[in-house]
Amino acid sequence: MSRKKIIAANWKMYKTPGQTRQFMQEFIPLVAGHTRDQIVICPPFVNIATLVEMAEGTNVEVGAQNVFWEKEGAFTGEISCEMLVGAKCEWVIIGHSERRQYFGETDDTVNRRLEVALEAGLSPIVCVGEVKEEREAGITEDVLRRQCSRAFRGISARKAAKMTVAYEPVWAIGTGLTATPEMANDAHRLIRQEAANVFGDDYARQLRILYGGSVKPENAHNLLEQAEIDGALIGGASLKPDSLAKIVKW
Ligand code: PGA
Repeated sequence: MSRKKIIAANWKMYKTPGQTRQFMQEFIPLVAGHTRDQIVICPPFVNIATLVEMAEGTNVEVGAQNVFWEKEGAFTGEISCEMLVGAKCEWVIIGHSERRQYFGETDDTVNRRLEVALEAGLSPIVCVGEVKEEREAGITEDVLRRQCSRAFRGISARKAAKMTVAYEPVWAIGTGLTATPEMANDAHRLIRQEAANVFGDDYARQLRILYGGSVKPENAHNLLEQAEIDGALIGGASLKPDSLAKIVKW
């Protein structure tokens, strides 16, 4: 089964609405007509409206970087699925390692966010990945299995249809270090196995697993040509239009 690759930009805490507009004015012409891969940009919440407006009628789709599990209420600073859907945002990153590291995200909160995002019809990108000490201790496999099984808990294959997973080794994020295509392939195979355990073989065969961690124009081809790598989640190298366009055209 061929899985269409996804090139997803994670802008983290970068860009104002004005800078978002400027980026899109330059980026859209660079990727016009590109249909081989799906293109998704995940800006900070305040830029979603601008991005949606600029992306209308183009091949660019819009995502958020997080979502809260409650529908509404006294939760100062939080954003619900309904708000994202209402803003015409279609994707959402869940459980990014920076959320886990700095904002107390756990496997269980990832599971709660994933469940509501799927329920709302969003396409979640669930991030998993080991830290350097875990890789060095030889427990990468255990970590990935645990993160996946806990994230997927209580969710059915039918419900998980729109889910994507991103393998992001934490030691490769923003460091310039990249997993070798072999390392990524091994991790992706393991994640696919774990998805098969929970959701069944048919589901696992169509699940798209992205690689993230210092993806740039120079290494995108080597990574994306791997059979197990179904796309990329890109931080730093997604902030400039020409750099992201080069990755899209890997
Ligand atoms: P990076 O970030 O491309 O800057 O390493 C990737 C990510 O955190 O999603």
